[in-house]
This record gives sequence, structure tokens and C-alpha cells, in this order.
Amino acid sequence: MKVLHTIAALREALPQPGANAFVPTMGNLHEGHLSLVRQAKGHGLPVVASIFVNRLQFAPHEDFDRYPRTLVRDCELLESAGCDLVFAPDERELYPQPQTFKVQPDPALADILEGHFRPGFFTGVCTVVMKLFGCVRPQVAVFGKKDYQQLMVIRRMVEQFALPVTIEAGETERAASGLALSSRNGYLSDEERAKATELAAALKALGQAFVQSPERRAELEAQALAGLKARGWLPDYLTVRRRSDLGEAQAGDRELVALGAAKLGNTRLIDNVEL
Ligand code: PAF
Repeated sequence: MKVLHTIAALREALPQPGANAFVPTMGNLHEGHLSLVRQAKGHGLPVVASIFVNRLQFAPHEDFDRYPRTLVRDCELLESAGCDLVFAPDERELYPQPQTFKVQPDPALADILEGHFRPGFFTGVCTVVMKLFGCVRPQVAVFGKKDYQQLMVIRRMVEQFALPVTIEAGETERAASGLALSSRNGYLSDEERAKATELAAALKALGQAFVQSPERRAELEAQALAGLKARGWLPDYLTVRRRSDLGEAQAGDRELVALGAAKLGNTRLIDNVEL
């Protein structure tokens, strides 16, 4: 497996555009990322993974500085999962000048939910993903459903800019306890890790309650929020949305997803459950 740090070296290694399958990451990898790599491998193309902690998608008060940088271990894991090439640029390589051209996603999709609580987050994500696509020029790129809204925003960006890449969704990997795997789980104490399963459980319960009484959506969401608060969490949202556009689910809607974000101690976790 090659590990390359510059765009020039990457271009040399991948002279033909559209001939690889790509998994973008911020490193600190876990089984969730590796399952995306194995999925990408299924296309029979060389698999490229990127590792880059993207400052543009972090607000000043967020965890950019303490986000774990674990390149050596990440590369070992990627190699074991069958990855062929790792692109791991540093900031000077990917942002040699301040990145003043940015991709501004549709506010209807990107200013709600995560975008409401993390203003500018999806502009940062779209900008780096557009840039990484320009560097890697993949045929297929795989994004995890764990970041459900991110996956949708990227799909829309690719459609609207007619980018020559197919976006594929990877299923969320979970620990036996039900906790969705996430790099940020590493911030949790043992006690918090045990408690963290409550978020997925609350989303499941909310989804089931909505299916029983869809006309009570707002009340059920408020109850779910209050329930997590009572258990010591600081929830941002727990809500049932249409999968197609993340609009608020109404009675009669099908293809739904319950999404949530909440802080446990200093760690903000997100999760979702398709209904
Ligand atoms: O999901 C992530 O890890 C990041 O948002 C991504 C897609 C690699 C962009 O920095």
C-alpha cells in the first residue's frame, strides 16, 4: 500500500481519472471506516483512502486541535482492509493559500439539523470533498450512513455539479451494545461509553412511537428530548424526517429516518435509525 502526501505524487500514481474507488476520512479509523474500504474494494478498482483533518468543517470552539492524529495505526488498519493507496496531505498541501473559494450547499438541506447546530459545517465538508474529488478523481466514493445528512448533502452536490462520481452509502457499524462506531467515542470515559447506547435506543423508541402515532410527531420528539435530558444528556435534536429530503415526517410519509445529536459530558454524538 502506498502512502502519499502530495497532490503531485497522487496524480502520478493515479494517471487515469475515474479508475479508483475512494473512501475519504479524517483518520483515527475504526471498523466503521474499514467496512467502507471493504465495500469500495467490491468494485474491483484500486481503493484510495484519504486521511485529512479538515479545519474548515470545525468551528473555533470545536475539537479540531484535540482530534486524534493516528496516521501510523490508520495505515496499518487500511492495509489490512485491502486499501491500495492512502492520500494523507498536510494542511499546507491541501490549503496552500486560504481556501477563499468554497462550496455553498443548499440551505434547505444544509442549514437544518447538524447545519443548524454547527453553522458552516457542511460548507467545510463540501469544500474539502470537492477538492479531494479533484485530487483523487474517483469513479465511486463511499460515505457512511452514520453521517446521514452529510451523505445526502454530498449526493446533492454531486448531482448539482454533475460530478463524474457515483456516491455509495455504507451501513453504520455498531458495537454489540448498539453504540454506533465513531472516532469521537474515543473521548468517552468507560462510564459514558456504557451510557452512550441511550442515544440509539432513544431514536429507535422515537421511531416506533412515531409509526404508532404519526400525528403526534412534535410531542413525541419533545418527549424523547426531555427523556435524554433527564438522563443527564444535553440533546440538540431528536427528530423523525423523510429520508428523501430530511423534511419533517408527516402521517402517511414512508421511508423515514430518526436522527439525533446530543452531548454526553464534553462529547457530542450523532446517530440515526432508518424506519
Ligand atoms: O466524514 C468525515 O470523516 C468527513 O466529514 C469527511 C467526509 C472526510 C470530510 O472531511
